[in-house]
Order: sequence, then structure tokens, then C-alpha cells
Amino acid sequence: MDEKIRVAVFASGNGTNAQNIAEYFKDNPRVEICRIYSDKPNARVLERASSLGIATFVFSRKELSNSDIVLKKLKENNTSFIVLAGFLLKIPDNILEAFPNKIVNIHPALLPKYGGKGMYGMHVHRAVKASGDDRSGITIHFVNSNYDEGNIIFQAWVPVEENDSPEDIAQKVHRLEYRHFPKVIEELLFSAETDQNKQR
Ligand code: GAR
Repeated sequence: MDEKIRVAVFASGNGTNAQNIAEYFKDNPRVEICRIYSDKPNARVLERASSLGIATFVFSRKELSNSDIVLKKLKENNTSFIVLAGFLLKIPDNILEAFPNKIVNIHPALLPKYGGKGMYGMHVHRAVKASGDDRSGITIHFVNSNYDEGNIIFQAWVPVEENDSPEDIAQKVHRLEYRHFPKVIEELLFSAETDQNKQR
């Protein structure tokens, strides 16, 4: 049988998406969420990882951007694909170069709107509310060296009603994330471009 495709998930905060992804692939014989990476030693995602029995790796912002520590760990783990699920730091060039088109991020809005530095989590939903837009959604995209600017893979949207609060928008967007993100990841893992197990 083919080896499993080993996927790393990076998250900085709560980690509900990381958990949802891990649960989605739990019984998949071809995919393993092999480790959860975080830059925040107290992030809730680390507790979730421990409940799920998934190994973790915690590093500082400096270690990520000025050393090979994280890249080494990814290689040691035979990682083939990286998912950013609420990860707030930029991915440095050494990792981008080692994983071309194999790093994806989810953004809680319809890019190119409401993207860029400082646009994460509730900041995004508050900006959507303030703009009066009648819809918001999710964008799954490849990661490059600029925040939220890599090629878009998938988008889905929900209506924003006039009396929706930013929290209501967040909830609707989270539901979209849970529904679509694992499936989009699965499709990417098995597309010709990213399936490293092909013909091995
Ligand atoms: C998610 O909504 C994700 O789209 C967003 O952070 C949230 C993390 O929630 N990511 C960004 O804003 C990145 N710019 P979670 O920790 O519960 O999965």
C-alpha cells in the first residue's frame, strides 16, 4: 500500500479548523495529520492536538523567520503538504521554496477584499460589517511571500444581513470553513500536482 500523505497544520489560536481537519481525515488510510505547529505556547489549538493525539511543535517568531528549525522539523517528519488554519505569521522563504504550491491558507473573507497585514479573525469581520457589504465568505489560496496574495483555489460566500453583528458574520464564515476546507485540502492532496505518492 502507498505511504500516507503527511500533512502539517499551522495554527496560532483557537484551532477549531485544525480540529475539524484532523477529525475529517482521522480514518483516512491515505492521509495523516502528522503534527500541529504553533507560534503560541498557550494556544488552545495545542490542547486540541493533545486531545486528538497529534504531536505538536512550538516555535518563536524568530525561530520561524531566522532559522531552519521549523523547516528541519517538517523534513524530519516527511511532510508533503502544509495547511495554515488561523496561522498569523508570514511563511519564510526557506519553507516556501521547499514546499512550492504545497502550502495553503484559509482567509475568512472574499479576497482580494479584507486581506493583508493585520486582517485576521474578528478584525476581518468587523471591517466587513463597517463596509456594509451584503456578503462575506472564505478564500482558500496558495501561500506566497505576501499576506493573502497567493493564487486563489476556492471561494464560497454567505449573505450578510443588515442586522448581523461581526460575531454573527464570524459564525457564518466559520460554518463555511468547516464545510469546505477539509474537502478542498483532500482534492488538492490527490490532484496530480501534489500527489507525491503517485507511481512511487
Ligand atoms: C479562521 O476563521 C481563519 O479563517 C482565520 O482565523 C480563524 C481561525 O479560527 N484566519 C485568518 O484570519 C488568517 N488571515 P480557528 O482558530 O478557530 O480555526
